Amino acid sequence: MKTKILIGNWKMNKTIQETIGFVCAVKETIKDIEPEQIMIGIAPSFLALPVLEKITDKIFSVAQNVHYEEKGAYTGEISVEMLKEIEIDYALIGHSERRKYFNESNESCNLKLKALEKNQMIAVYCVGETIEEYRDGKTKAVIKTQLIEGLKDLSKEFIENIIIAYEPVWAIGTGESANEDIAQDIASYIKEVIKEEFKMKYFDNLKVLYGGSVKPENINDYVNKDDIDGALVGGASLSPDSFVAMIEKLKE
Ligand code: 13P
Repeated sequence: MKTKILIGNWKMNKTIQETIGFVCAVKETIKDIEPEQIMIGIAPSFLALPVLEKITDKIFSVAQNVHYEEKGAYTGEISVEMLKEIEIDYALIGHSERRKYFNESNESCNLKLKALEKNQMIAVYCVGETIEEYRDGKTKAVIKTQLIEGLKDLSKEFIENIIIAYEPVWAIGTGESANEDIAQDIASYIKEVIKEEFKMKYFDNLKVLYGGSVKPENINDYVNKDDIDGALVGGASLSPDSFVAMIEKLKE
């Protein structure tokens, strides 16, 4: 059976106290879950990261972003070393909100991915098309470019362990999720592109998640597909009830 992955991306939500409250509310459900069965991650605010990392070993902590430079005059930014100090091993790179509101490009994502590679961290690299690109039938072309430019010059070992999150921009926070067969087709395409372009021989560890209006009612429609290993969830990961309900679904 495949290991399933559920990552909650909390975006700019929840204080430190609310993070602690959330973990208390879900701890009964997660206490017996083995990571071989379901890997459960949360990307909280930077402030809540060290707290989350300390209070539970059942949830892996994910940074929502990182800067590519080691240190320096980059006001408001967080470095890989700062994340490593608090034992964070995962970071989201290239979320569509970062691409849209903070001008992140495939090139800057590539620099960030290289910074993670250098520090043996694992990336959750987000790709996905806008509604215009979707309507114009450009989904695969856009994703191929995001993969080729984003993963350029990274080692095979790093790419083997990467998590790719396919998040159609038009499905994020809209309640309008992608059809599961289309999501499966794109997930399989992502694996194919990576295998071909980066001449990968072994890539059993490479995981693809679907994200975009995932909730307890539809999570298994995606995760039961052959090439979809899990979900990256925004809105429905904020309430302990729906988070627990998604975990229960994944246990089925
Ligand atoms: P929603 O689940 O709220 O659509 O957000 C998806 C997302 O952006 C996860 O990174």
